[in-house]
Amino acid sequence: MKYDIVVIGSGIAGMRAAIEAKELGANVALITKASPTANNSFMAKGGINAALGNMKDKDSIVEHAHETYKSSLGIGNKEAIRIFCEQAPTAIRELSKYGVNFDKLKNGKVSQRSFGGSKYKRTVHAADETGSAIMKTLHNIIKDYNIDILKNYMAINLITKNNIISGVTLLDEVNKKVLVCEAKSLILASGGFASLYKNHTSNVRDATGDGVAMGIRAGLEAMNLEFVQFHPTGLEGSNFLLSEAARGEGGKLVDENGNSFVDELNTRDFVTRAIYKEFTHGKKVYLDLTHLPEELINDKLSGIKKRVKTLKKLDVTKDFIPISPVAHYTMGGIKTDTIGRTSIDGLFIVGEAGDNGVNGANRLGGNSLSQGAVFGKIAAYEAIKFANKAGKFNGVDYYEIMKDINYIEELKEESKRVNANEIRNKIGEILFKYLGIIRDEEGIKKAYEELVLIEEKIKTSKNGQTTTIKAMIELKNILLVAKAVAMSALLREESRGAHFRSDFPEKDHKFKKDTLVTISDISV
Ligand code: FUM
Repeated sequence: MKYDIVVIGSGIAGMRAAIEAKELGANVALITKASPTANNSFMAKGGINAALGNMKDKDSIVEHAHETYKSSLGIGNKEAIRIFCEQAPTAIRELSKYGVNFDKLKNGKVSQRSFGGSKYKRTVHAADETGSAIMKTLHNIIKDYNIDILKNYMAINLITKNNIISGVTLLDEVNKKVLVCEAKSLILASGGFASLYKNHTSNVRDATGDGVAMGIRAGLEAMNLEFVQFHPTGLEGSNFLLSEAARGEGGKLVDENGNSFVDELNTRDFVTRAIYKEFTHGKKVYLDLTHLPEELINDKLSGIKKRVKTLKKLDVTKDFIPISPVAHYTMGGIKTDTIGRTSIDGLFIVGEAGDNGVNGANRLGGNSLSQGAVFGKIAAYEAIKFANKAGKFNGVDYYEIMKDINYIEELKEESKRVNANEIRNKIGEILFKYLGIIRDEEGIKKAYEELVLIEEKIKTSKNGQTTTIKAMIELKNILLVAKAVAMSALLREESRGAHFRSDFPEKDHKFKKDTLVTISDISV
């Protein structure tokens, strides 16, 4: 297979990039290991941020940039933030033009709601199902444009020659064969790794950090992986997210006596730690919507009402909803420049797989969908510029491909005697315990040791379970990324944003910088 532009990942960043590349005349393929409608963008609930200034509060691009930087706790990249906030309103207009039906005000303008960490109503929404409204529309455009969607193809490794991108090796999941997909330039938009925190995450199970693992194996630097954002309000005992929209529309966080204990519209790191503190005092925490008008709940929070009824048999108009924080978003990723370029020529990384510094230590809720749309579009433009300048494919060194063919043969063998699901549960517990909301040196080192032990056990395991090859590739990626997260968390001997070290509870100016880890920092 050969395409001018190959996009890996079918979330908002990947789809927006593929659409832009096609509109600019490229021959483009969109590769996804699952279905284009099973990703975190699709699951996104509460909304997408842009300073449209449609509400009475007179929000502005400058305020959006100011609050995004403030939330980054001093390590956000100001240039990336400027580009993002300036382009976000255009991104919303483009999505509307493609057909996304955002909720409207009586005057016909797009409505905006409050979200955490902002003084302004900036979050554009489609009830509490904004992600699916956007992603269904983009998927329809992809189909209308006849963009080749390669479904059920799992990316294995990036192929490079002379530090220039050549393409990617893929596992054809149906025929269990390794294929080569050549590209003049490649956009990696394969998402983050919050589903490593299995059973403590809002993410789809596919969010296994494949792009981060591929980048690390290709010799790139991984940046700020320690910043894992916990969303304050997962529905207790499930991966269903009680969207920040609920608090934006007036919902309260209360203890079992109905008492408020935190400003629920503070930033996520702050609110999550306040909840954690309640837990350590043996208390339970609830989302309370009972004081909200039923009409508002039916109009703006109907998804929550329905799912809470199904999953917990609770009526949100009468009952408190039990919550616990869940790993939701990963701020770090493979280091890129402000517009997604990497140190491999022709390779661009956008969305959660990459880190251009736009979120620093803590992302504002609602910013990620617009970041995907803004930087996906820009990456497509840059990728085409690169492809046109190159004018030809870079070529493939077949020795490299043989390595992946052998790797898959090894995994085929391992897949006959490893229970990947069981191991993922175990990794989820290790990460939640030692690299969760609060960390310390002893726990981080313990996590690393346990991850290494798991790797050793996989080599000798004989427990007779069978696993798919795809699940084995994911498992290897998960272990690599989890170790890189532990290494990063160990390096940052301070507390900042989503990374809280009980042994270094203050922010330290010495660490007002990015942490970087490479393959040579991690035992493999
Ligand atoms: O709560 C939410 O709806 C999540 C939004 C986000 O993470 O941006």
